[in-house]
Amino acid sequence: MAGNSFGEVFRVTTFGESHGKGIGAVIDGCPPGVPLCRDDFEQEMARRRPGGSAFDTPRREDDKVEILSGVFEDMTTGAPITVFIKNKDARSKSYDPIKNLFRPGHGDYTYFKKYGHFDYRGAGRYSARETAARVAAGIIAGKILSKEGVDVIGYTTEIGGIRAESLDLTKLKDSPLCCPDLKKSVEMEQALEKVKEQGDSLGGVVEVRVKGCPPGLGEPVFDKLDADLARAVMSVGAVKGMEIGSGFEAARLKGSQNNDPITPEGFNTNHAGGILAGISNGDDIIIRVAVKPIPSIGIEQETTDRDGNPSKITTSGRFDVTAIPRIIPVLEAMVKIVLADHYLRNSMMSQF
Ligand SMILES: Cc1cc2nc3c(=O)[nH]c(=O)nc-3n(C[C@H](O)[C@H](O)[C@H](O)COP(=O)(O)O)c2cc1C
Repeated sequence: MAGNSFGEVFRVTTFGESHGKGIGAVIDGCPPGVPLCRDDFEQEMARRRPGGSAFDTPRREDDKVEILSGVFEDMTTGAPITVFIKNKDARSKSYDPIKNLFRPGHGDYTYFKKYGHFDYRGAGRYSARETAARVAAGIIAGKILSKEGVDVIGYTTEIGGIRAESLDLTKLKDSPLCCPDLKKSVEMEQALEKVKEQGDSLGGVVEVRVKGCPPGLGEPVFDKLDADLARAVMSVGAVKGMEIGSGFEAARLKGSQNNDPITPEGFNTNHAGGILAGISNGDDIIIRVAVKPIPSIGIEQETTDRDGNPSKITTSGRFDVTAIPRIIPVLEAMVKIVLADHYLRNSMMSQF
């Protein structure tokens, strides 16, 4: 099974399954001398961990990160770093009733067609549990970036068609959905309550903003910063679209409206979303991510079994009602991994 590694210099490989012993990551290419200890993981892992809001799966995992290699006396050594997170609350038996059925909207069907089997116990490698390993790797990437003054912040701008109208990022901690518009956050919660009662789910939009990114990150031609960010973000389950800067709206603007005039003080506007010709321009990088509704729902749907016989499936139980806000630290982590990778690629160039 290919495709488990990401990045050129700062290279992340994740391993493990949702209902196996645990999941983890090997991070190769992290420079020596980065301060790192177990406690560094606590806060970020808690943001992805289920239980932060009433709309999260009831699966309870403490997501304690064990550092197995690459760190000595709370400092990275330059050797591969291995982090491991034990699975503690996997209840595989609860999947028995649907073990032969494909969940619509999930990966069961495509994994079965490709590999001849699928991990019906909570989706194995294509489970959102795998994203805990990405968040752990992102914390290490974040340490490299924060030294350079780069900050990555994700927040909810839309759930179930309800859109945030104000973007006051100081309000994020007051919203259980990490939405900067507290009035809209309440409306989003109400919408989630309603679909939860119906056994249904909702999607939404997350915006990720990078502040303090220096100009010059990104490589011609295939490793453009926006191309790598798109690959990283689209590799997260439930992500169905992503745009940078004015994104799809750019298609409706004139050049005179979409160009960002350049002054000695910098750009007047930021339709580019901080990236021009695949290279960061020093302005905020602005990424918007479309997140689909959770596929596992408590409403009966049509499906087939492994032999192609028609059947009905209901997947109520231990599932999220929405992937937001749990997906936010995952998206931030993927953005950090890309930026750290490009930052380290730049520092290997002689002119830097
Ligand atoms: C943070 C997060 C939590 C998720 N929680 C669930 C869940 O509880 N149940 C579920 O069926 N899918 C959940 N998903 C979505 C599936 O992982 C995803 O839809 C599935 O792997 C199919 O991939 P695709 O949506 O990219 O096509 C979650 C995704 C993320 C990122």
